[in-house]
Amino acid sequence: MIMTRATALLALFALKAAAQYYPYVEYSGTTFFDGWDFYGAIDNTTWGNVTYVDSADATAESLAFVNAAGNAIIKVDNSSTVLSDGIQYRKSVRLTSQAHFEVGSLFVIDALHMPYGCSVWPSIWLNGILEEGQVWPAAGEIDLIEAINLFDHNQMALHSYAGCVQPANVTQIGKALIKNCNDTTSSGCTVAETKQNSYGPGFNQANGGAFGLQFDIAGIFMWFWPRLEIPASVTHATSTSTMNISDWGIPSAAYPAAGCNITEFFPAQELIVDITLCGLWAGFPSIYAQDCPGQCFATNIAGNGSNYAEAYFEIPAIRTYTLANLSISAAPQTTGAAAGSPSGTGTAAADQTGAPPSAGVSLRLTRSGISGVLGAALAGMLLLLL
Ligand SMILES: *[C@@H]1O[C@H](CO)[C@@H](O)[C@H](O)[C@H]1NC(C)=O
Ligand SMILES: *[C@@H]1O[C@H](CO)[C@@H](O)[C@H](O)[C@H]1NC(C)=O
Ligand SMILES: *[C@@H]1O[C@H](CO)[C@@H](O)[C@H](O)[C@H]1NC(C)=O
Ligand SMILES: *[C@@H]1O[C@H](CO)[C@@H](O)[C@H](O)[C@H]1NC(C)=O
Ligand SMILES: *[C@@H]1O[C@H](CO)[C@@H](O)[C@H](O)[C@H]1NC(C)=O
Ligand SMILES: *[C@@H]1O[C@H](CO)[C@@H](O)[C@H](O)[C@H]1NC(C)=O
Ligand SMILES: *[C@@H]1O[C@H](CO)[C@@H](O)[C@H](O)[C@H]1NC(C)=O
Ligand SMILES: *[C@@H]1O[C@H](CO)[C@@H](O)[C@H](O)[C@H]1NC(C)=O
Ligand SMILES: *[C@@H]1O[C@H](CO)[C@@H](O)[C@H](O)[C@H]1NC(C)=O
Repeated sequence: MIMTRATALLALFALKAAAQYYPYVEYSGTTFFDGWDFYGAIDNTTWGNVTYVDSADATAESLAFVNAAGNAIIKVDNSSTVLSDGIQYRKSVRLTSQAHFEVGSLFVIDALHMPYGCSVWPSIWLNGILEEGQVWPAAGEIDLIEAINLFDHNQMALHSYAGCVQPANVTQIGKALIKNCNDTTSSGCTVAETKQNSYGPGFNQANGGAFGLQFDIAGIFMWFWPRLEIPASVTHATSTSTMNISDWGIPSAAYPAAGCNITEFFPAQELIVDITLCGLWAGFPSIYAQDCPGQCFATNIAGNGSNYAEAYFEIPAIRTYTLANLSISAAPQTTGAAAGSPSGTGTAAADQTGAPPSAGVSLRLTRSGISGVLGAALAGMLLLLL
């Protein structure tokens, strides 16, 4: 078959539009809590005044369970009394996925209830897996859901080493707050959601909604949809169906590769769900005082915990996808390497058609600004061309 460059390029864009994602690990229903590790230690990352329970304690204290509706509940202890001496911390939950997620991953999180209230700092995010001797943010951090205290909106962010920024002219719904992902205030490059009801009581009363995250060689993109605006591709999805994001619309936050080499700054990530209290953001005195009275610990954490009745996630499902059909949904991966390389090099995809793996091909495409969302057919075609 003889192809001109022009027809090949047309085909390229057709393939890009047709890119589809295959189901990877799903966390839902009675098996929601399979495939996670419970932190089981104090919060020594954001220095919130919580002790993250281990799995046994989470079960014994009903801090992580599947409710009668079949949804996962992840919550702060709201039934114990914590003394005001500051030595004892309140119990909460931090889950870390056993699966690792590489460039070429997609996430859909459906939530009915978001934890909120003075001192409350929930997040669902990706944490880059550091190699020996590295320190944060060497492997990056991708914050899809995060807010504090009485925020009425979600705030998204990336954290990275210097050299990753959000470009000036990006197409997104949210409001850019900080452009430098290596911001010296430790905020990262942040985007405030501007759609209504993305967090707090508004989110909960509107029956929640869904969040999407595309972690791709072409960029990192985040979506929020209120319940009634969730796209059909998401509402119709099943545990085994592929996902086509062409109806997802304009993202709320967009970090295209034009401003950030995704593969360089964001190696394999783990997914984390946690709720901390106070700490470096929610409890930072001048920030805390913007929304809430008194002192973060003394006014909230100390006492009988009855003020934490709203401090819980209710999550029907977290679905994850990859560009290549890795087909492991029954058994979560415990190593990044085993998860293969969904899109970065095209190897997993190329294997399916017998085309030789070719990292060179996808790098060439990245430099020319064409999306890294590439199928095996594309890699094969490019080899014909080059
Ligand atoms: C994804 O949806 C778009 C728009 O409906 C369509 O053009 C494309 O072919 C679809 N891709 C796949 C793989 O089904
Ligand atoms: C935090 O605590 C955990 C569990 O004890 C430990 O593995 C980790 O190294 C600690 N991290 C820091 C930054 O201190
Ligand atoms: C709570 O955390 C802060 C750091 O964020 C720490 O300074 C303080 O000692 C902790 N305990 C109390 C009671 O505030
Ligand atoms: C946006 O910025 C990128 C690089 O930062 C540039 O390549 C592109 O042409 C710009 N697009 C528009 C519409 O200005
Ligand atoms: C920014 O990157 C430098 C290294 O270039 C690192 O030491 C520092 O921790 C980073 N700061 C933030 C806020 O990410
Ligand atoms: C992006 O980073 C990767 C990994 O460090 C590197 O191989 C690649 O050449 C970089 N791409 C660009 C366009 O600089
Ligand atoms: C818990 O403490 C709050 C505030 O001090 C108080 O209003 C409430 O009655 C207490 N609840 C119980 C069950 O003791
Ligand atoms: C604790 O929170 C749950 C909701 O997660 C609520 O149903 C319950 O009434 C609360 N308990 C107290 C003692 O406030
Ligand atoms: C993914 O691969 C598995 C195992 O080869 C296969 O059973 C499944 O049908 C494939 N899924 C899709 C959507 O092609």
